[in-house]
Amino acid sequence: MANVAVIGAQWGDEGKGKVVDWLASRADIVVRFQGGHNAGHTLVVGGETYKLSLLPSGVVRGKLGIIGNGVVLDPEALLSEIAKVTGQGLSVSPANLRIAENVPLILPLHPALDRAREAARGGDKIGTTGRGIGPAYEDKVGRRAIRLCDLAEPETLSKKLDELLLHHNSLLKGLGAPLFEKQPLFDQLLAWAPQLLPFSEAVWERLDAAKREGKRVLFEGAQAVMLDVDHGTYPFVTSSNTVAGNAAAGAGIGPDAIGMVLGIAKAYSTRVGSGPFPTELHDAIGQGLGDRGREFGTVTGRRRRCGWFDACMVRQGVKIGGVQGLALTKLDVLDGLAELKICTGYRIGGAVMHRLPAAMAAQAAAEPIYEVMEGWAGSTAGARSYAQLPAAAVKYVRRIEELVEAPVVLLSTSPDRDDTITLRDPFAG
Ligand code: IMP
Repeated sequence: MANVAVIGAQWGDEGKGKVVDWLASRADIVVRFQGGHNAGHTLVVGGETYKLSLLPSGVVRGKLGIIGNGVVLDPEALLSEIAKVTGQGLSVSPANLRIAENVPLILPLHPALDRAREAARGGDKIGTTGRGIGPAYEDKVGRRAIRLCDLAEPETLSKKLDELLLHHNSLLKGLGAPLFEKQPLFDQLLAWAPQLLPFSEAVWERLDAAKREGKRVLFEGAQAVMLDVDHGTYPFVTSSNTVAGNAAAGAGIGPDAIGMVLGIAKAYSTRVGSGPFPTELHDAIGQGLGDRGREFGTVTGRRRRCGWFDACMVRQGVKIGGVQGLALTKLDVLDGLAELKICTGYRIGGAVMHRLPAAMAAQAAAEPIYEVMEGWAGSTAGARSYAQLPAAAVKYVRRIEELVEAPVVLLSTSPDRDDTITLRDPFAG
């Protein structure tokens, strides 16, 4: 049976929630493999709205959810999310949620450092979610992270805390921020232990068994390719690899298990936080896209920057992310615009480029080269087949497919789960 990995193909917030929810309802297991509670999506199931940032979407659909080792896990955020969805009538227990025993934890000192650093950056800030994601990944790579399994070993925990505090308090002191004491942190960790350890296991074994049993696994990516720590608009990125290749390492399974890679792209572009955005619109059209698309961050509540579809960048994301098919979302937000623009390349200095270069100043200088397309007067909202779309909308989608070199396999025409044109079942492989 084929598996599916879903990743964002732009800067996040592409409307993954709706697509992931549909796929989760058809999967046996849903795995988060990177990111943390910086992610966020809204699921509407049976009239109830669930806002998730850490729990894999499958939990809402009655499937097994797995939080893989590639995630950074904030115990407080997880426990409060569990309490919230429990209050909405869902049951979350080790029967439907498993967490990799080797997942690194986010402790209160991580958001403190994240925010102190952002404040120190002033005008050059990255615009992080302030949730401690970056500092937690730094500790993992720096080999001083406290992992879920450490909660079962108070002596290990105590030693690791000493090392962690030496590192963090030195930095916090330098930044002029309040320092952390060991005892309250130690007590907090010990208090979390009985609440979290029942979920902890070697999830790689469960995934290996699932593979042998032919179960359908959905790997649920967070953020997006252009926020990937290696391949995105560095340093204005998140601190994990968001590409599908990381689904294997971040879950503990071989790359052959990833299956079909589905990239989610909005029919226009948005970005939260700072960083280059060549097709950004500062005019009434950009404002209109933001209003009609309700472009506010699920996690941060910040207004998203909006712009034209950047086919050059999405093509890059398709290649780097290993995207085999695209789910194009929010086409209806473009309804009624007289003309549309698609970016096909950049002018940087005197040169024309068909990729976004890696260097910071070059990225910032990238001027979009546009192809202008005819808009459509009719509505695409709620369309469930190509035949129901205005001809110019079909032409727009077809042009995107050509330019990004990937087929559109799903087309979403409203927030409603059923308003989707399905051209190919991703689980069919
Ligand atoms: P961090 O992940 O909190 O370190 O933030 C780094 C960058 O990634 C910032 O520009 C954030 O706005 C962005 N970011 C993080 N998570 C998301 C997300 O789920 N959607 C969109 N942007 C995100």
